[in-house]
Amino acid sequence: MSISGREFNWRKPFGPLIVQSTISDELHEILLTVGNRIRSKKSKEDYDYRERLAGNLSEEYGYGYDRKIIKDGKTADLKIAFSKKQFHIVEEELRWLAASYTRICYEQKNTDSKKDIWKPEELKIAHPLWINYMKQGEWNPVHNHTGLLSCVIYLQVPPEIGEENDKRFGTESSKKTNTPSAGKIEFSFGSHTEFGKSGIMYTPQEKQIYIFPAKLNHHVYPFKSKVERISVSCNFEALLRKKRYV
Ligand SMILES: [Fe+2]
Repeated sequence: MSISGREFNWRKPFGPLIVQSTISDELHEILLTVGNRIRSKKSKEDYDYRERLAGNLSEEYGYGYDRKIIKDGKTADLKIAFSKKQFHIVEEELRWLAASYTRICYEQKNTDSKKDIWKPEELKIAHPLWINYMKQGEWNPVHNHTGLLSCVIYLQVPPEIGEENDKRFGTESSKKTNTPSAGKIEFSFGSHTEFGKSGIMYTPQEKQIYIFPAKLNHHVYPFKSKVERISVSCNFEALLRKKRYV
């Protein structure tokens, strides 16, 4: 019996796709500048978004808030922290990235029909986006989001966090672990099987964006360094299509 020269066909037919890309310098600057401006405002409590989020963080702000909801509990218009021009840049780039996600899913055969490819104008950002200032010892437990798709964008990831995961420089608690995880995000899905995993961890890099299905569980591990890790998240909803374009 020959034990060489065989052809192997493989399939990985189940599970969600996580797409990683980068944001433009322009978007990075807008998100960081406006986030920091909110943070320095006397009225920053109005932007406090923590009651809507899972994070165990001391500072998470929405890029906008609804005055009337805060004052009398009624639905009202949202006050957006971006200027008109900034808002246009944020919307245009993020909707394009989210639409790219749906195209990649089709190209990678994660979806079967071209109808599953969404155009940017068919996707709506659920405002406000929010910014997370994560400090030493803070964490984000397992959670998922609302809507169709979600993203997380990294605005600042100090090198000290990565060094905690380096066995040469890491703290005593991380030196010998087989799962270095300080400051990492982990996505989880399904059950662990033999030769198959149910979670994937990523070490974020500045200006990276991860796009994923909103219902995909994920969590963020704490770090020990006295630094700040800054990320932004938002959700996308699908607008009703007047007619199919394919
Ligand atoms: Fe999240």
